Amino acid sequence: MSDVLLNSLAAAVAASPEDPELRALYAERLADAGQRDVAIGQAMVVLSKSQGHAGAQALIERLTGEGSTGAPAEQNEPESRSSIGEPDQTEGVDWGRLEHEIGNEMPPPFVVHETIETPEGVVAAVSDAEDSSSIAEVSRETLRLSDVGGLIEVKRRIHETFLDPIAHPEIAKAFKKSLGGGLLLYGPPGCGKTYLARAIAGELGASFISVTLADVLSKWLGESEGNIHKTFAEARQKAPAVLFLDEVDAVGGKRSSQNSQSLRNIVNQLLMEMDGVGSDNDGLFVLAATNMPWDVDAALLRPGRFDRMVLVSPPDEPAREAILRGHLDQRPVQGIDLEVLVRKTEGFSGADLKHLCDTAAEKALAASIKSGAVQPVSMSDMNRALKEVKPSIGPWLDSARNVANYANGDGRYDDLVRLLKRYKRL
Ligand SMILES: Nc1ncnc2c1ncn2[C@@H]1O[C@H](COP(=O)(O)OP(=O)(O)O)[C@@H](O)[C@H]1O
Ligand SMILES: [Mg+2]
Repeated sequence: MSDVLLNSLAAAVAASPEDPELRALYAERLADAGQRDVAIGQAMVVLSKSQGHAGAQALIERLTGEGSTGAPAEQNEPESRSSIGEPDQTEGVDWGRLEHEIGNEMPPPFVVHETIETPEGVVAAVSDAEDSSSIAEVSRETLRLSDVGGLIEVKRRIHETFLDPIAHPEIAKAFKKSLGGGLLLYGPPGCGKTYLARAIAGELGASFISVTLADVLSKWLGESEGNIHKTFAEARQKAPAVLFLDEVDAVGGKRSSQNSQSLRNIVNQLLMEMDGVGSDNDGLFVLAATNMPWDVDAALLRPGRFDRMVLVSPPDEPAREAILRGHLDQRPVQGIDLEVLVRKTEGFSGADLKHLCDTAAEKALAASIKSGAVQPVSMSDMNRALKEVKPSIGPWLDSARNVANYANGDGRYDDLVRLLKRYKRL
């Protein structure tokens, strides 16, 4: 099962969360891909929404080793598991009771606070594709900025510096604003840079072509320039397209490396390609992201290249709510007080929040397997997970502090200074 297929299934499930067949299929494919725990979780969600769903039930039995009298489950079980109506002879797990328990009597998943409104347009964050190692990944992007929770100020900056001039070229021209050059997103790891880049492509109705420069470097040393040129050329063919250069600091001159000449060559190639962007209305937009903008080669930051920087700050409260909701919506949960969780997770990155939800789900899963009945993820699981999972952006804030102190002569890191003050690092 390719990741691509799994990801599109995940997206389809997120789009139609109430479709039990779709989710059951997703669970099956997850199981085939060896993602046992996630598969069990998804199958449980199917059961919670569609009582007695035969496929989901059979899958859980197969994966938890219940139902067979100790014999390992057949690898290539034929269609039998989708056949319905077979009497349930499972020992240990009383699936009838289980269904009953998590059926209509299932308590509401989230605590509802009267005064709190769900931010508009917030959509569950689909479990994202991890960065793949291929040189370029292409997708027609459907994510929108409204899918990105919170971060109102960040979105405003993105509109002002990037999207609005593109939407109003004649006004931009009157103000002598060139449409060339690119936008650099920077900020602590795991806080939504890649996610925002995809959403920007979605706003532009453009294809999204993602290249991780560290991969280009490690895999294609020697042929990197050719590959970069090829990637830009392909992106132009797919126009309108957003070409996203992730980890653009990887080619920063500051990295000491015996390969510094090939680094120079790559930077020069990037500069050449960047200088051609926007000049002939080619519908190519270039975005880049980095955790360490201070390591990005200075030549790449000059006018006409990545001359606009936007700080993607750690998720604020609405963003944390959207992220937590996205991760918990996919699982059987009960009595989760999002408002409390949001307050307790100040300083958590998007990745930390995912880790938190995964950890809590593991606890509920372990308890479920032990007791033979579905134990939805509860607030006490979340609280136990909170004892284990800590915010990870501290080291990033520390390294950013030096930069804010010593390298902000031209004010380019003013946003960063504000962020550091908020986190009491300055
Ligand atoms: N504001 C947000 N709203 C919804 N989901 C978010 C938000 N910020 C981050 N995420 C989630 O966190 C994950 C990690 O973010 P990512 O864009 O990969 O971080 P970065 O590129 O900055 O390292 C994303 O895949 C996304 O699911
Ligand atoms: Mg990223």
